[in-house]
Amino acid sequence: MHASIPKIDPADYERIILFTGAGMSAESGVHTYRGRGGIWHEYHWEEYACEEAFINRPEAVMEFHQLRRVEVLKCEPHQGHHLMAELERRHSGVTIVTQNIDGMHQRAGSERVVELHGSLWRLRCPYHGTIEDIGPDYKAQFCTACGHRLRPDIIWFGDGLNPSVVAQTDQLIAEADLFISIGTSGVVYPAAGYPRLAHSSGAHCISINLQALTDASIYNEVVLGEAGRVLPEMFADIQ
Ligand code: APR
Repeated sequence: MHASIPKIDPADYERIILFTGAGMSAESGVHTYRGRGGIWHEYHWEEYACEEAFINRPEAVMEFHQLRRVEVLKCEPHQGHHLMAELERRHSGVTIVTQNIDGMHQRAGSERVVELHGSLWRLRCPYHGTIEDIGPDYKAQFCTACGHRLRPDIIWFGDGLNPSVVAQTDQLIAEADLFISIGTSGVVYPAAGYPRLAHSSGAHCISINLQALTDASIYNEVVLGEAGRVLPEMFADIQ
């Protein structure tokens, strides 16, 4: 493990994956899911973040997600988000693969962002696809084409990931030569399997987290610290 922060020159790598979880947004003030202050300590996901809850209590589920939107809009991207966006502008092989649904990367200016778990800022009809819905309040809760109730375009507990997003991510990670995991507990599969895929595909793997991870052995470098502080130091030449 590193007391000092390794310096990375992005020019040494062709394909770079920045794999982010809730810890990436934590310094912006967005709550994580687990650990101290985690959302799943205050709310039971069974009541707010699964298809069954949506069928039984759609208004409560929408209110819960509306609250998430209001909270996220109070937060601003931090230095780490901005660093990633700048890295993408300077290096054509950079892609962010995020488990976050908060849209913070896009607000910082990142464009190549794969959202594994969907987005708070989209709604979905099972028959007519997704629509963007930005702002604190959900505006359209019923599909204008068929009248079906729209649900957040989010991967809830028990949902499968979008197969085309998985196929795209599998390929990106298998081809990466640098994989940096940032602020994820690595307990929710299938996303939690991506660091191992990167490792077995031969990528140089780095973890940035406040705490040591159980699968630390697959990482070439483990850096303990806050994403917003570590990333700008790691890519010191980028700013
Ligand atoms: N910098 C780096 N790491 C941090 C920071 C920080 N400032 N703050 C917290 N962390 C780390 C924590 O130590 C923890 O390991 O971020 C991790 C957050 O873990 P989780 O809350 O479990 O978030 P995540 O891994 O993204 O959760 C995965 O679970 O609930 C589902 O779908 C939801 O996408 C989410 C998935």
